[in-house]
Amino acid sequence: MNLIKVENYEEMSQKAAEIIINKVVNNPKITLGLATGGTPEGTYQHLIENHQKNQTTYQHVKTVNLDEYIGLGATDPNSYRHYMNEHLFNHIDIDFENIHIPNGAATNLQEECRSYDYVIDQLGGVDLQILGIGRNGHIGFNEPQTPFNSKTHIVELAPSTRKANARYFNRFDNVPTHAITMGIASILKSKEILLLVSGEDKAEAMQRLQHGEISESFPASVLKKHNNVTIIADKKAISSCLVSP
Ligand code: GLP
Repeated sequence: MNLIKVENYEEMSQKAAEIIINKVVNNPKITLGLATGGTPEGTYQHLIENHQKNQTTYQHVKTVNLDEYIGLGATDPNSYRHYMNEHLFNHIDIDFENIHIPNGAATNLQEECRSYDYVIDQLGGVDLQILGIGRNGHIGFNEPQTPFNSKTHIVELAPSTRKANARYFNRFDNVPTHAITMGIASILKSKEILLLVSGEDKAEAMQRLQHGEISESFPASVLKKHNNVTIIADKKAISSCLVSP
């Protein structure tokens, strides 16, 4: 795993956007794997600004999102579909036909999982996957103990994950208990992975990722098995007091 150390959240966002924009310019038909959460918001903002300033086009870009809450439809303000529209898609020239996000409101969720993996395969796989990391090491919504060979599946969210995401909801009870997520095997199939890590509340996860063993109890550790992973982490996430002797 390559590690790019940056000063702060802003620099992480700029660097990530720069990498993504270069890829899009060199391969206008690229399939991007996208993440939600607070971490990539700044990166998406830079993509929008660059699109407006330099007319970088997304007309032929395809996107595949990692996950979605179960029970929240596309228009629900807390759905990841809504997040993506607000933070990126509504502000660039992407063809909405080329956007793929699991449907958390599907009547047949098992079928939704199967067809999502099929869609990714039909696209020829993800070329560049953007990832954030949960404090417990989750990637997408793959919580600790998720088998490394998992494909897109339904998960019960860990209480700590619901708590961390409660900031977006009116009440903790409104945070969905389940989600649909690309599996670890689906994520690992990506040709290249860009992991963004910022802030001191991620320092423990970052420490474990760098120095811990590869284990299903810490999902992000599987990234060490992939041959093309770049981590962009800021100073607070690489907190020196946590570095092992
Ligand atoms: C969320 C998302 C993940 C995200 C992670 C970290 O629950 N499902 O895709 O990477 O948790 O979120 P944040 O960036 O807000 O810290």
